Amino acid sequence: MIDFDLVVRGGTIVTGIDTMRADLGIRGGRIAAIAEKIEGRVTLDADGLLVLPGGVDSHCHIEQLRAGGGSDEETWESGSRSCFAGGTTSVITFSTQFKGGGILEPLAEYRKRAGRAMVDYSFHQIITDPTDDVVWKEIPEVVSEGIRSLKVFLTYDAMHLDDRQYLRVLAAARRNGAFVTVHCENYEAIRWRTEALLADGKTAPKYHSWSRPRMIEREATQRAIALAELVDQPIQVFHVSCAEVAEEIARAQARGLKVWGETCPQYLALTAVDMDRPGFEGAKFMCSPAPRDAADHAGVWDMVRRGVLDVVSSDHSGFCYEGTRGKRVNGADASFRDIPNGIPGLATRLPILFSEGVAAGRIDINQFVRLIATTPAKLFGLYPQKGSIAVGADADLVLWDATRQVTLSNGLLQQAIDYTPYEGMRVTGWPVATLRRGEVVMRDGRVQAEPGSGRFLPRGPYEAAKPRCVLPDGFDASRFA
Ligand code: URP
Ligand code: ZN
Ligand code: ZN
Repeated sequence: MIDFDLVVRGGTIVTGIDTMRADLGIRGGRIAAIAEKIEGRVTLDADGLLVLPGGVDSHCHIEQLRAGGGSDEETWESGSRSCFAGGTTSVITFSTQFKGGGILEPLAEYRKRAGRAMVDYSFHQIITDPTDDVVWKEIPEVVSEGIRSLKVFLTYDAMHLDDRQYLRVLAAARRNGAFVTVHCENYEAIRWRTEALLADGKTAPKYHSWSRPRMIEREATQRAIALAELVDQPIQVFHVSCAEVAEEIARAQARGLKVWGETCPQYLALTAVDMDRPGFEGAKFMCSPAPRDAADHAGVWDMVRRGVLDVVSSDHSGFCYEGTRGKRVNGADASFRDIPNGIPGLATRLPILFSEGVAAGRIDINQFVRLIATTPAKLFGLYPQKGSIAVGADADLVLWDATRQVTLSNGLLQQAIDYTPYEGMRVTGWPVATLRRGEVVMRDGRVQAEPGSGRFLPRGPYEAAKPRCVLPDGFDASRFA
């Protein structure tokens, strides 16, 4: 009996553990059958291609609200197009809090904007001002709506939390069964070095990296982990740039703590030297933590191979290079302190990781799938609906040509951002079709989907977010403060 809406025929299916030659039957947006031969009225030929779970980008900034009004330049529509072009079908982006305000109002506005999404989505809730109202009333409300992860920054003037504030967020997360993600860099140390650099006239983009060397990231990571242990709260350390930081995570993991580490393609493919291009050009490569050097790439790969860093996200930031809202918001000769941090990467995440990882022989294809889809889905409560190829899972798939060679250029990426830091980079491996819930939303680079067809993904309680129930002296301070 033929009762599938679509059959993906003849491909090599790859999951986080298995690789098999099989057909996939899709019904009602979900995978309904995996078998040697499936008949269907409509078929999609995957002969010679890999069939992978759609990418889950658990850390990207799309149409993020800005203090004072407006948003980043990457919109939900353009960001979704770029995701599909690069094989990503689900994202977790960020709802903001502005110091002095609550979280519910910006969340309502952000939800409205996300109504134009084509990619499926959830949010991390950024906490910049953990007042009593926020930690005792608003966080419980947000979590009950299915936003089950909080994001904190230990740096940036407008965002950073001191240790007590960070502890209050960890405690609120523990009370409500939410996960916490942390940007680990030492705020005061960066401030102090930045003041010194500027006093010495060192203002060019390359000094961004001088303002925040490795030990500044390492110290904050060590502190973030120790305080999470004090509260007994699971955390993920965002965008780890080098092995000496990952070592802190490895040590915590060896002690049984629920601490995970994420890295991004920029820490595998860019270096501080890129920020030393003539004029303002180096701003295109400015993100935080700063890209390190080529030897650090090897160190990060080693930590990825060992599983210490088990998620590769894009940390896509929606700022343009030209114009007056993005990198030049404070002028074309702004000092590094006044240039927005962050680089684009929604569509380049999978191709760069595949090329530098699988094609270059550093990781196998199953680990690739875990890094880009399965583990982020598990860590953020989206699994098995997302991040897997299994009967009952959403039919989010990417048909991947493992041999196609492509020279990256911004025109291929379909983003609103006007540049890619990877312009001219040659990659092996490219997505030829993307399916979101059984619908072909990208084929041979042509994206076709309705704005507003993306779905919000509410997240219930899940394993990774549960505390270990190991507390100093057995005292649960999170019940009181
Ligand atoms: O430089 C970066 N990473 N910008 C995006 C915001 C963040 O810190 O994640
Ligand atoms: Zn960050
Ligand atoms: Zn980020």
